Amino acid sequence: MFICGLFSSFLVIKWGIMDKIRIVGGRPLDGEVRVSGAKNSALPCIAASLLTADPVFLRNVPGKVRDVSTMILLLEHLGTNASWEGSALRLQADAIDEFEAPYDMVKTMRASVLVLGPLVARFGKAVVSLPGGCAIGARPIDMHLEGLQAFGAEIRIEHGYVSARAKRLKGAHYRFPNITVTGTENLIMAAVLAEGKTVLENCALEPEIADLIALLRMMGANISGEDTPTVTIHGVDSLYTAQHSIIPDRIEAGTFLIAGAITGGSVTVTHCVPGHLAALLEKLGKSGCRLDAGQNSVHIENHGQLHPSDIETHPYPLFPTDLQAQYMALMTQANGICRIHENIFENRFMHVAELQRMRADIKVHGHVAEVHGRTALSGACVMATDLRASASLLLAGLVAEGVTVLQRVYHIDRGYERIEEKLRQLGAEIERIS
Ligand code: EPU
Repeated sequence: MFICGLFSSFLVIKWGIMDKIRIVGGRPLDGEVRVSGAKNSALPCIAASLLTADPVFLRNVPGKVRDVSTMILLLEHLGTNASWEGSALRLQADAIDEFEAPYDMVKTMRASVLVLGPLVARFGKAVVSLPGGCAIGARPIDMHLEGLQAFGAEIRIEHGYVSARAKRLKGAHYRFPNITVTGTENLIMAAVLAEGKTVLENCALEPEIADLIALLRMMGANISGEDTPTVTIHGVDSLYTAQHSIIPDRIEAGTFLIAGAITGGSVTVTHCVPGHLAALLEKLGKSGCRLDAGQNSVHIENHGQLHPSDIETHPYPLFPTDLQAQYMALMTQANGICRIHENIFENRFMHVAELQRMRADIKVHGHVAEVHGRTALSGACVMATDLRASASLLLAGLVAEGVTVLQRVYHIDRGYERIEEKLRQLGAEIERIS
């Protein structure tokens, strides 16, 4: 069992849990910013390396993102040899001697559950602490477990842990009752080494899933149907070495575009995939921003008044829940009323109370937030309880009058690589205080 005290001390030292970010608002951002690799793609791709004893090389991994480092630590805990070779992360799971993802890791990062599918597929056993609820909602993993049961795994829940066992998984037909991103990823990873054919229906369509499938195919998996709701997998006996480059982070890209818009600036976001941002770009265009999308970049300018444009969060390709909080910060600067429907998570308005402390005029009715703009925001000491809520407060701080101090910076570090450095590069007056 993992040593809880040691791990907590590690987090305090390594991740600077006491850090704050101080922003002086009011500067229009100007310049170019490069997007890192996608956190939500790197996490399943790292877990997928458990499916082979051969080395897997991943490029464009956002190594400074805390969830990514936690995932690497988890794999090392299981016995994976992880090292950086130049800019590539090398992962070799040829000495796995531990099959348990302990509570102390899972509680800091729910995506730890992504080791379940690969471990049970290759070794026939896996024990993962049940993630439980988190700041944004209950987030059960029932569909991951139901799918593994359909593949013949015996699932038991005891003492807060889920254990999955199977001699060899057997391919099956499984339809997800609802769309789940990591659930789709877990079952695809389980099916690649299962015996026979698997058909997964009602799969999530997020680009991170196609990225995982691209890696698995390079490793020798037989998969078709990526970018469609039905994915078909013919199981193989073993997988082998591969090299893969992680796709750009569409949520980080979207956050920087909103930063350009909210400050009345002129920002070019480079190394991104504009097609992955279509739902956001449509809304930014309707709000009055000038946009110019190139092959791997998007330029945004906002020198006029912003108009409100309502959003509803839904699975990809519709508006992502992971940009809802940032978009809400932007809408505090639009002239009029904007309605924001959060449909994915039941508790993802935790940023509202903190935005209100900065003078935002927002009313919440169930899963709808009504933002009344435009408000001259006022800098304040704020703190968030989750990653994207922190990003929203930081964006509000960029346009607020006076000083904003963002506390609990470890939330933002879970998903952004040194966001304050990238924003400073664009002309923001921002610093990290340790
Ligand atoms: N759900 C169930 N049962 C399940 C699985 C999901 O009821 O077995 C529910 C969830 O409670 C939620 C909905 O289904 O209401 C969608 O959850 P999903 O499983 O799709 O979320 P996830 O896979 O846990 C990923 C991202 C999240 C992102 C969501 C939705 C990763 C590592 N995480 O989570 O990213 O918000 O999809 O797009 O890919 C973030 O990066 O800030 C973040 C939270």
